[in-house]
Amino acid sequence: MSDHLAQLLEKAVATSFLGESMMLTQDWDDQRLGSLIALAELFAELDKRGIKTPLCPSELAYAMFFDNSTRTKSAWAGAATRLGMSPVIVDGSSTQVSHGETAAETGAMLGMNSHALGVRHDLILGEGNSFMRDVKQGIDEYLAATDDPRKVPIVNLQCDIDHPTQATADLLWLRERFPEGLAGKKIAMSWAYSPSYAKPLSVPQGIITLMTRFGADVTLAHPEGYQLIPDTVAHAAANAKASGGSFRVTDNMDDAFEGADVVYPKSWGPYDLMLERVAANKARDKAAMADIEHRALARNKQYTDWICDERRMAKTAGGDALYMHCLPADIGDEVTPGVMDLHKVNVAREAQKKVYVIMALLAGAKLPDLKERLSAYLP
Ligand code: CP
Repeated sequence: MSDHLAQLLEKAVATSFLGESMMLTQDWDDQRLGSLIALAELFAELDKRGIKTPLCPSELAYAMFFDNSTRTKSAWAGAATRLGMSPVIVDGSSTQVSHGETAAETGAMLGMNSHALGVRHDLILGEGNSFMRDVKQGIDEYLAATDDPRKVPIVNLQCDIDHPTQATADLLWLRERFPEGLAGKKIAMSWAYSPSYAKPLSVPQGIITLMTRFGADVTLAHPEGYQLIPDTVAHAAANAKASGGSFRVTDNMDDAFEGADVVYPKSWGPYDLMLERVAANKARDKAAMADIEHRALARNKQYTDWICDERRMAKTAGGDALYMHCLPADIGDEVTPGVMDLHKVNVAREAQKKVYVIMALLAGAKLPDLKERLSAYLP
């Protein structure tokens, strides 16, 4: 067994997360997060070497999406298949949730037959993360009531608070690009203009809460009115203090880019309108929802100069910061075609890490004998 793989395996099993679901990265302590990262890096290394790891054969991996997705659906299918599971993607709007079935009931019904469940529910503040926790409770209660020993983890495939598989994939990509570590690296998480739709807040929230745990100097930049959920900003500040990094907020994109090693410019919706959407959604008021969306895009339009362009990239460290984006990016609005063209392979490599994060979340949560099972695959 190579030293590198053996070290990754030891780290991966150092703190077990058997039976656990990562609803937010902030919920997991450094030890558990460290094991998740090592396990994901081990899966990535084995995959690169062409070593297959069908650890969960003949198992069903459901993923329920209440919003559009390209990369995360593909990562779910890729992860489940690499583990020997059968992935099935369910359109959330086609479930009975829209007919009043509760999250807990839905969880119990899907959990009855499945061996893992991914959920994306990201558009309405206050709803997605609690929906996932209720689904998990429904599954767990069903399993307990029927003396079923299965571990059926929930994987948060993006909620209103966090996008944990994205943020962790982004972290894996940064660890590859900066093997010396993130301590002292300047990361600019910036709002950028988008005309396409009022995007969720979960990606910037996920980035500021996770990257501040690794000693990075994180700057959050946004125009007035585009603040994030206050708890997530407070967590970012506390994490930075604990890790020896720093965290600050600015309303100036140029200021955030100055000397940055990494820039992550992406759009999200105005906070007050995201809050207004909660009541309109509860009332199932489609006209109000459409009006809020219209006003959000009109608000965005005041800030078309918030674009990641060549002039701003020239302000970054050495003029060549790493550009990151969770994708899809609005090219021509969030970022210029020239900047995107320079980084198109980088953002694809960033996106590809998600498959290994999902593999790690599934295998670590499901397999009590993870070390023995994985050892068998190591050369
Ligand atoms: N970044 C991301 O989650 O991509 P999708 O929305 O396409 O899944």
